[in-house]
Amino acid sequence: MKWLQGRVLENRHWTDALFSIRVETPPLAFEAGQFVRIALEEDLARPFSFVNPPQDPVLEFYGIVVPEGPLSPRLARLQAGERLLVATNPAGFLVLSEVPEAKTLWLVSTGTGIAPFLSILRSEALWRRFRDVVLVHAVRHRRELVYQDIIRKHLVRYLTFVSRESAPGSLAGRIPAAILDGRLEQAAGLALDTDAHVMLCGNPEMLRDAAAALAQRGLRKHRRRIPGHITVESFW
Ligand SMILES: Cc1cc2nc3c(=O)[nH]c(=O)nc-3n(C[C@H](O)[C@H](O)[C@H](O)COP(=O)(O)OP(=O)(O)OC[C@H]3O[C@@H](n4cnc5c(N)ncnc54)[C@H](O)[C@@H]3O)c2cc1C
Ligand SMILES: NC(=O)c1ccc[n+]([C@@H]2O[C@H](COP(=O)([O-])OP(=O)(O)OC[C@H]3O[C@@H](n4cnc5c(N)ncnc54)[C@H](OP(=O)(O)O)[C@@H]3O)[C@@H](O)[C@H]2O)c1
Repeated sequence: MKWLQGRVLENRHWTDALFSIRVETPPLAFEAGQFVRIALEEDLARPFSFVNPPQDPVLEFYGIVVPEGPLSPRLARLQAGERLLVATNPAGFLVLSEVPEAKTLWLVSTGTGIAPFLSILRSEALWRRFRDVVLVHAVRHRRELVYQDIIRKHLVRYLTFVSRESAPGSLAGRIPAAILDGRLEQAAGLALDTDAHVMLCGNPEMLRDAAAALAQRGLRKHRRRIPGHITVESFW
């Protein structure tokens, strides 16, 4: 694999566990929603989604410390001026160019799974192509509802779930249950039907259970050869 030498400009800590790294690298082309492998040493690399839109020359990654994980605790400790390797081959299909025609686009995430949607949210094609855009972010605690400044600048319907404490203004519980019982649609004021396309990102169990709940509404996985309504990206 080929690597770009990056220099960390900032490592912002939202909580003890959540961090956002901004890194300067030579130019790197990608499509909003894609990911790239990052590393401190070449033999320990992990994929991370771009948070920044492609037109922004400074790359940004949003991460969480998995305490027993080999890389994320070290990324969280990175400081301005330190080196971060960024692979030269961004990849991934969680991108608008793979999404077929739809009236409403739902961007549905848990935890750090919001990262690619922050890039997509700032891409021009989004506002040309869809009548409504709904961003859904589920976290354990209120303080994990990050990037509010960027989100609130856009005309997106922004719905949040906080699952482990009470949080006025946020839905309680989990995304799949709220699809099944209609709470998600009610909160958005929009239908989850076959006029919608749903992009799901984050916890693999949420992806599986949400896709099963959506199947009950007639939505099915999108494939290039057999167009559908659901695109997924699992973070582990
Ligand atoms: C396509 C893709 C894109 C990704 N984009 C991001 C991103 O933008 N931000 C990010 O933080 N991570 C992202 N990840 C996960 C990331 O690559 C690492 O797995 C993560 O940073 C933990 O690395 P680690 O070496 O410490 O532990 P690992 O050995 O990689 O993971 C150990 C365990 O930690 C848990 N875990 C891993 N990632 C997460 C996570 N993000 N949130 C909660 N639990 C997790 C899982 O149970 C996993 O089995 C992405 C993964 C994939 C496949
Ligand atoms: N978040 C923290 O406070 C924190 C702090 C330090 C380290 N970490 C580490 O980070 C990792 C977890 O990260 P995270 O909290 O961002 O991710 P997460 O466990 O995936 O939780 C994020 C959101 O997804 C929901 N969720 C979990 N499983 C689901 C499922 N099967 N279906 C639908 N929704 C589901 C959670 O609800 P529930 O609450 O109902 O599970 C929560 O609202 C762990 O390795 C942990 O050790 C987390």
